[in-house]
Formats: sequence, C-alpha cells, structure tokens
Amino acid sequence: MQAWTEYQTLNKDRFLDELLDLLRIPSVSADSKYKDDVKRCAEAVKEHLLKAGCDTAEVCPTPGHPIVFGQKIVDPKLPTVLVYGHYDVQPADPVNLWTSGPFEPVIKDGKIFARGACDDKGQMFMHIKALEVMAKTNTMPCNIKIMIEGEEEVGSSNLGKFLEDNVDRLKADIVLVSDTSMISMETPSIESGLRGLAYMEVEVTGPNRDLHSGVYGGAVANPINILCKMIASMHDENNHITIPGFYDKVQDLTEGERKALNNAPFNLDEYKKELGVKDNWGEKGYTTLERTGTRPTLDVNGIWGGYTGEGAKTVLPSKAYAKISMRLVPHQTSKEISDMFTSYFESIAPDYVQVKVTAHHGGEPVVTPTNSHAYKAAEKAIQTTFGKDPIPTRGGGSIPIIALFERTLGLKTVLLGFGLDNDNIHSPNEKYDVFNYYKGIETIPYFHKFFAEQG
Ligand code: BES
Ligand code: MN
Ligand code: MN
Repeated sequence: MQAWTEYQTLNKDRFLDELLDLLRIPSVSADSKYKDDVKRCAEAVKEHLLKAGCDTAEVCPTPGHPIVFGQKIVDPKLPTVLVYGHYDVQPADPVNLWTSGPFEPVIKDGKIFARGACDDKGQMFMHIKALEVMAKTNTMPCNIKIMIEGEEEVGSSNLGKFLEDNVDRLKADIVLVSDTSMISMETPSIESGLRGLAYMEVEVTGPNRDLHSGVYGGAVANPINILCKMIASMHDENNHITIPGFYDKVQDLTEGERKALNNAPFNLDEYKKELGVKDNWGEKGYTTLERTGTRPTLDVNGIWGGYTGEGAKTVLPSKAYAKISMRLVPHQTSKEISDMFTSYFESIAPDYVQVKVTAHHGGEPVVTPTNSHAYKAAEKAIQTTFGKDPIPTRGGGSIPIIALFERTLGLKTVLLGFGLDNDNIHSPNEKYDVFNYYKGIETIPYFHKFFAEQG
C-alpha cells in the first residue's frame, strides 16, 4: 500500500532510534537487581503504544513483572488480532565476551548489536511500529489488541492467570507473534511448531561436609563424579534418552511430513563450520532438522560444585548441582516428563549419595496449523514483501504461553518471526539485522489486511 510505504520511508530513522532507546533499558527478568529497569521498560512500551495510536494502553501489575496491554478497536464488527511479544530479556553474561556493551546498542554492518535486539524487543517493536503505520494513515484493516509481557524469559509464570482473569478483554480471532526465526531473508519461512520444556534442578549430596581430597579421596564418593556419571547414563549409545517411558507419547512423523521437513534448504557442512564443530551430534536415525524440530532432548544447562575459583584448592566437595532442560514434542506434557525425570533420577542414585530434584518452569509443545486462513494471510503477506513463498518449518525453541492461548482463550497462533538462527539470542553479541527489522514493519500490516479480508 502506497500510504504505508510512504509513512515508513518518512519515519525510518525514528523507527530505528526508538528501538535503540528501548534496547538501552536492561530489562533482565531473571535478575531482581533489574526489577526497576524492567518496570521502566514496561512504562516505555506503554507510552509507545499510546503514541502509536492505541485507544488505551496500561501497565498491568502482576506478582512478578508487569504485563503491558493496549488496544485499538476501529470497528467491533471487524476481526481482531491479538499480538503477543515480550519486553524482558535474558541476562547478558558472560559480559566480557561482548564486543560492545549489551545495553549500549551499536549498528555494525547493518546489524543492531544489543541484548534483546532480536529476542524479543526488536521483533515485538515491529508490531508497535506497524500499528503506528496503519493507525496514522487511517488504514487499520482490523482491530488490534497487543499484550507485551515481562516474564517470558523466566517461564511466563504470571501470564497464565492474567489470561484466565481477562478472557473477555483478550477476546480475539487469532494470536500473532514475532518471536521465532526464518531460514534466511532469501528463503523466508514460517515456524509451524514449537517444542515444550521441562526444566529441572538437581542437588547431589555426598559426605556431610567438604573433605580434604587427599585424606578422604578414594574412600568416599565424590558427588560431582557421581552426578556426571548419572547425567552421562541418561543417553544411550544411540543418543536416545534412557528415562523409562520418555518416548511413549512421541509420535513419528509420516514419511510425507518427514520429506517436507527435510526439503527445507539446509547445508550440514555450513552448519558445522558456522558453529566451529568438526562433527554434529544427535539421536540416531534422524536428520538435524528433525532433531531440532521434532525430537525431544535432555541437556545440562549448567553444572557446578566444589572449588571453581582461581588456582587450585584440593577438596572433595559435599555437594554437586546441575540444571537440566528437556525439550518436548507433541503429546509429551511437562508435568509427566518432569515426574518421570524425578523418579528416574532418584532411582539411579547410588547409596553413596542423596539426591534432591526440583522442577522449575515448564511449557507445552505446540503445532500451529498451516491450512488456516490466518496462516494463509501470513503466507500472502510474505509473498507480497519478499516476492517468495515462505516454507513451513518446525522451531526448536519454546514459548510457553502459546499453548495456553489455545487452552484458555481458544485461540490459534501464527508465528510470524523475522529472526535468524545465528542472531545469537541468549548468547553474547546478540544482533538483529536492520533489514529484518524494516522488513517486519513492512510485512505485518499486510498480515492484518489479508487476515481481515479473509475473515
Ligand atoms: N523467542 C524464544 C523462543 C524461540 C527462539 C523460538 C527461536 C523459536 C526460535 C523465547 O524467548 C525463549 O527463549 N524461550 C525459552 C523458554 C522460556 C521458558 C525460558 C527457550 O526456548 O529456552
Ligand atoms: Mn523470545
Ligand atoms: Mn528468549
């Protein structure tokens, strides 16, 4: 649309500056030290919603970090899109591996470097700017409700209740989310599924106190050694997970589905080279795309215990710890899987140690339909701005609230993501291409237009 292009071109620089300002706020949800910054970020998002043209916008407090909700209703008879995103970010550490400050955004080679540049400030802000474009040119094709939360990176634990308490206010026809990735800007794609998550923490206790590793070493079990052994035993020689019942509900794809999935352009050599690994790893019998898109996993996210300071200290530690995540696929539930993990981990603990298992947040897997009006609107929007048909893919990441949109609000979701797998989300030097940012702002209004036309 002419009016959209014109408005975007005229306001291009400001759109970018505003995002950079938002990236300067360290809205790290996991670390209570940033609590006020998280709140400040919520306020900033609210102000942006009002300035963009929302009729109303408010910061809704929760027992955790606040949720920002705004809306622009042009005509109650028109369809309504509920946009979801998150303004919170992952911690920036290890900070010393960043080439510029994580909260001092810089643009290098056409890329915005900052924590949250892609996940998800850059992507959620595209929706606020897209709303502005439509509102200021009086071309809103449908109603828009927009909910931006501050706890996605810590499991969205208060958002479920917010959905239950606000079923009427959140009434819509579809949920639209930009918090996933595309294959590349040359090969646009739409993720049609996300994995679920079960996140565990284990504590293994050996002797009742730290011991001299010479005086006692060899005669008392070292809980770190034992923990490593227990963890190693959770994969077999084919890299299958050994927890009994773990795969009981996992369904294999049909041959047709497998073929379609593996049809997506993917170069294993480039993949390995880009990651700096000589060989890839994974469950026997599955390709890399199947492994990340359709198979469950078990991974240690952190492991600690004993002495990790400078130099050497001889110690046989009393305790060892690990944080372990399992990515889940359709029909597995986070509750069942964390229960299975707990009983299995307890059952394989030898008598030399005691174990304590705690379940952290979880989330359920989702598959989003690729034959719906909403998906077709997304497809058409991408065709319009990329000049190519998007390929449906399966994402490996998790967004826990998506399953609850369906369960609590009865709403399906379209994952219209513009990130790239190498955007370093959750890693040092997170980036988002300026091109992708503008492309998103350009594409999103077409989604609304096509969705409204079909609806
Ligand atoms: N945006 C990501 C999820 C994602 C990334 C999906 C890339 C698909 C492609 C989201 O912010 C995220 O990081 N989710 C967490 C889960 C949460 C419970 C901490 C994840 O996947 O680890
Ligand atoms: Mn995200
Ligand atoms: Mn994330």
